[in-house]
Amino acid sequence: MAAYSAVTVFRHTLEQLLDSDQFSPHISKTQIISLHEKVCSLQSSLDKISFVPKLKRDKMKDLQNRIRDAIYAAQDAVDYWNRGHSPQGSGEKTMKKLEEDIKLVEEDAVVLEKEIRNDPKAENLFLAQPSFNFSGKDKIVGQEEDFKNVVEILVDDKHMLQVIPITGLPGIGKTTLARSIYDDKRIRNSFRLSIHSWVTVSQDVNYQELLSKILSSMESRGSQAGDHATQGDEDQLRVNLHQTLYHNKYLIVLDDVWDIMVWDQVRLSLPDNKNGSRILLSTRISILAETVRNSNFMHEMKPLGLKHNYKDDITNACLAHLKDTGRRIADNCKGLPLSITVIGGLLSRERLDPDYWKRIEQDTAGFAAIGDDSYMEILSLSYNNLPAYLKGCFLYMGAFPEDAGTRVSKLIKLCVAEGFFPKPSLPTQTMELVAHKALENLIGRNLIAISEKSSNGNWQR
Ligand SMILES: Nc1ncnc2c1ncn2[C@@H]1O[C@H](COP(=O)(O)OP(=O)(O)OP(=O)(O)O)[C@@H](O)[C@H]1O
Ligand SMILES: [Mg+2]
Repeated sequence: MAAYSAVTVFRHTLEQLLDSDQFSPHISKTQIISLHEKVCSLQSSLDKISFVPKLKRDKMKDLQNRIRDAIYAAQDAVDYWNRGHSPQGSGEKTMKKLEEDIKLVEEDAVVLEKEIRNDPKAENLFLAQPSFNFSGKDKIVGQEEDFKNVVEILVDDKHMLQVIPITGLPGIGKTTLARSIYDDKRIRNSFRLSIHSWVTVSQDVNYQELLSKILSSMESRGSQAGDHATQGDEDQLRVNLHQTLYHNKYLIVLDDVWDIMVWDQVRLSLPDNKNGSRILLSTRISILAETVRNSNFMHEMKPLGLKHNYKDDITNACLAHLKDTGRRIADNCKGLPLSITVIGGLLSRERLDPDYWKRIEQDTAGFAAIGDDSYMEILSLSYNNLPAYLKGCFLYMGAFPEDAGTRVSKLIKLCVAEGFFPKPSLPTQTMELVAHKALENLIGRNLIAISEKSSNGNWQR
C-alpha cells in the first residue's frame, strides 16, 4: 500500500532529523516533534485496519489517496525548508495546515476502522496465526502422471540431445514439476549425469548474465563444479559453456522462458554429443514450447482435478462444520494449484470461522474461468486481505528477480531499513524479530516460500 509506505518513510525522515538534532532556521525542533506525533498516530490508526471488506474498498482507496497527498505535501515542505529554502508566506501557518490535513485523514481512518470493526463479518485477522499450510515441497499432489511422462523421455535411451518443454498456464505447477524431477536423486543416478544445472530465466534477460548463471549453477557429480570460468564477456562465456558441456552428459533446466530469442542464443552453447543429454524448459507460452521441442514430445500441464481429486483432499482437511464451504471454495479454485495454495493460506488465518469462510467463498465465486489472467484475481484477493504493514513489505518483494532465492537475513535487514514495520510494543522485541514475524505471516499465507533451510531448521532463503 503506497499510502502506508509513504507514512512509514516520512516517519523515518522525521526521526532521522530528530536524531541528528540539526534543524534549518525555517523549521523548528518543536514543529518536527509535533508533526512526528501526528504521523505516528496516523500510522497506528492504519495498523488497526487489517482487513477491508469488499463493500468498503472504494472508501479505503479514496482514503489512501488522501493520505498519500497529505503526506507527500508535508514531506515536500520539510525537504524544501530543510534544504535552506524559506517558506512562501507564513511557515507557521503552512505547517499548521499540513498537520491539520494529516489529522483529518487520521480521523477518517479511525471512522473507517470502527465501521469495519462493527461489521460482524469483518473480524481482525491480524493476530491469527497460520496453523496449516496447503503448500510445501513434501505436499505436492496430483503430479504423479506428469512426473512419469516427463521422466520417461528424460531417461529413455535416445542418444540425441532432447529439449523437453513443459508448458501451461501461470501457476499450474510447471516449476514445481521441473523442480521435483531435477531434485530426484534416483533420476540423477539412473541417468548417470555428469553435470546438472538449474537456471531461472524470467523476463528481463541479459545474455551475459544468463550464460554466467548457467555456468555458476552447474553441479557435477557430488560437488559444486565451481571451477568453470563464470566471468568474461558474452563470447568468452559462450565458449566456456560449450567447452564445459562438450565431453559431459548434462541436464539443464531453463525455468520460465519467455522469449524465443533467448533460447536461440543459448542453444548455440549447448552441444549435442549424442550422449543422452537433456534440456528441460518451462514456459507459459505454448507456441514457444512448440518451437523449441526437437521431438514430438511436449508436456502440457492441465488443472488438478482432471486426474487428481484434490477437492476430496481439501474437504477432508477441513473441520466438520466447514466441509461444505471448503468444498465450494475448492471448486472455485478450478484446479489451479496457485489458487489452491494462496486461498488455502488465506483460510488458514481463520480456521474456525464460518462467516469468514463464507466471505472467501463469495469472493472466489467471481473468479473467471481458468485462463491467462485468472491468477491475478487470486493474488489481488489475497493482497486485499493483507494488513497494511504487510502490503508494503509484500510489494517490495517485487523488486527481487522472480523465482530467485534471496537470503532471509538480507531481506530482513532491507525490510527493517525500509521502515515497513511498526516499532515493537515490548522492549525485549527487536525490529528484526518484527520483520521475521512479518515474513512468517507472508509464508503462512503462501505468498512467499522458503526454498532453503539450514541444518538446524532456520530459514536461509
Ligand atoms: N501439484 C502441486 N501440489 C501442491 N502444490 C503445488 C502443485 N503445483 C503447484 N503447486 C504450488 O502452486 C504454486 C504455483 O506453482 P508453480 O510456481 O510451480 O507454477 P508455474 O506454472 O511455474 O507458474 P509460473 O507460470 O508463474 O511460473 C506454488 O506455490 C506451488 O508450490
Ligand atoms: Mg514457474
